[in-house]
Amino acid sequence: MALREIRTKGDEILYKPCKVVKKFDEKLHILLDDMYDTMKEANGVGLAAPQVGILKRAVVIDDGNGKLELINPVIEETSGTQTGSEGCLSVPGVWGEVERPNYVKVKAQDRNGNWFYAEGEELLARAICHECEHLEGKLFLDKVIRFIDE
Ligand code: CO
Repeated sequence: MALREIRTKGDEILYKPCKVVKKFDEKLHILLDDMYDTMKEANGVGLAAPQVGILKRAVVIDDGNGKLELINPVIEETSGTQTGSEGCLSVPGVWGEVERPNYVKVKAQDRNGNWFYAEGEELLARAICHECEHLEGKLFLDKVIRFIDE
């Protein structure tokens, strides 16, 4: 288990688009394992590679129903809307209401390069959208309707 430093708001790496993952090798597997451990240690639901300083299209999510790794994810379908509180490990202590689709279908590769589909509703749909936006260099702050005072 290795923890990596989580980059925070203001770090320029968080605002850059990520590169497509082409090598599904040991280095990628170590990155994904480290990202998962780092996310768990920080009590997060999702983490994208740029948040640990790596500009690659890789995401890990765990909404409480198990680990989901998404490499080169593409959201193919969405439906419905949900409005709820959202935060980000790169923006500690800040929570805001964000509108997201209530359902998301995403196509992605697993850690070995095999394409698969994943579906999510509610928190999982929210997390998939949030993490995919990190890969485009976007933070959720742009989408906040109302900031929530803790
Ligand atoms: Co985030």
